[in-house]
Amino acid sequence: MNSQQKIAIAGTGYVGLSMALLLAQHHHVQALDIVPAKVEQLAQGISPIADPDIERFLAESKAGIRSLDFSATLDPAQAYSDAQYVVVCTPTNYDSDHNYFDTSSVEAAIAAVREVNQQAWIVIKSTVPVGYTRQLSQRLQDPRIIFSPEFLREGKALYDNLHPSRIVVGANLTDSAVYAAAQEFAQILRDAADPSELERVNSDGTRSIPVLLVGSTEAEAIKLFANTYLALRVAYFNELDTYAAARGLDSEAIIRGVGLDPRIGSHYNNPSFGYGGYCLPKDSKQLLANYEQVPQNLMSAIVDANQTRKEFIAQEILERIQGLDHPLVGIYRLTMKENSDNFRQSAVQDIIAYLLERGVDLVMYEPTLGESSFMGCPVIQDFAEFERSCSLIVANRWNEELASAAGKVYSRDIFRRD
Ligand SMILES: NC(=O)c1ccc[n+]([C@@H]2O[C@H](COP(=O)([O-])OP(=O)(O)OC[C@H]3O[C@@H](n4cnc5c(N)ncnc54)[C@H](O)[C@@H]3O)[C@@H](O)[C@H]2O)c1
Repeated sequence: MNSQQKIAIAGTGYVGLSMALLLAQHHHVQALDIVPAKVEQLAQGISPIADPDIERFLAESKAGIRSLDFSATLDPAQAYSDAQYVVVCTPTNYDSDHNYFDTSSVEAAIAAVREVNQQAWIVIKSTVPVGYTRQLSQRLQDPRIIFSPEFLREGKALYDNLHPSRIVVGANLTDSAVYAAAQEFAQILRDAADPSELERVNSDGTRSIPVLLVGSTEAEAIKLFANTYLALRVAYFNELDTYAAARGLDSEAIIRGVGLDPRIGSHYNNPSFGYGGYCLPKDSKQLLANYEQVPQNLMSAIVDANQTRKEFIAQEILERIQGLDHPLVGIYRLTMKENSDNFRQSAVQDIIAYLLERGVDLVMYEPTLGESSFMGCPVIQDFAEFERSCSLIVANRWNEELASAAGKVYSRDIFRRD
């Protein structure tokens, strides 16, 4: 176990908050955010995001059951000035004008650190373009920058860090000081994992959590290739499902038969309206942009397949309301997954836009939304009223709540799981 360190976290979203609570088990952690409301909530021990382990850690810490050395602040000097590590967990949205990630928040956070602290090791946890850390380090003439990809799933953000699939730290390993810092940070992450993980046996027979120390560019590539593979897999089963639906075949039977090959497997194969959420759409586009002059077919296809799928789903919906007198289409939930608390870049939003362009009347049912309208469409808060008023209900994911309206529901959720 490493000695206690002072660690600052920039950004208290899914990645930053889970990192902060994870590391505060053994270290002194100051988490900084630029949004006062988030910091105020955290100061009261309330999680701004729905995540069972984050909520549990905060509650147990408040009740004195769990010891966490953690506080949140808006003041960069307080957070950064004496930190030994600063973990940057700020957004990197895809900028469609430049066809690249917008990394300005990462650079703003690093600039704020360097104003008050030249010595801290900066660990970028935000997802960045391939080659970014090395170029930034050269541009800023700052060798003390490391990249460590984050693999968590929303809703299980802290769980996935307590039980990590792997720990990857990327840095300029030819520099012995950088190597030592990368190794130490990997150890900090490993020590923070749930103790049961140190005993686990992996599918390849190895024990404990796999730890990879690699170049920063390789680490960035690991993150983007992993997410693009997940997007590929979703797109593949969605396109299989499109084929089955278009030809009147039993999609479920085909997927089951395909998955019984152990090389393929029966996991992560449930058709949906498209891959979505904050990461898969933007990360696959960024990887495609990174290919530049490198020959490829698949990367473009993975990006394009999602659009084609969403247009197919929208057409299917249009066909189902054709000929109806004043049809009203109800969108059941804006989220990507059951039990999710956010709908950033959810696939159904593109379907809504497509239907609105074609003049379809829509209403929404989204209990987590405090607004009375979304994308110009009314939001109905009462499910019974929603069910009564809609001619067709469109649901990316099934929920038992829909059982009474099953005859009206359009969904491609075959296996009724994420
Ligand atoms: N959400 C995921 O599932 C996930 C998984 C792996 C990697 N990532 C990557 O991690 C990064 C963060 O993702 P997220 O989902 O946690 O984002 P988020 O939007 O939930 O949180 C980001 C936080 O950073 C704050 N912030 C912005 N600029 C800041 C600054 N200069 N200083 C301090 N705080 C600042 C924002 O106010 C916000 O609270 C992104 O690059 C994302 O691609 C996300």
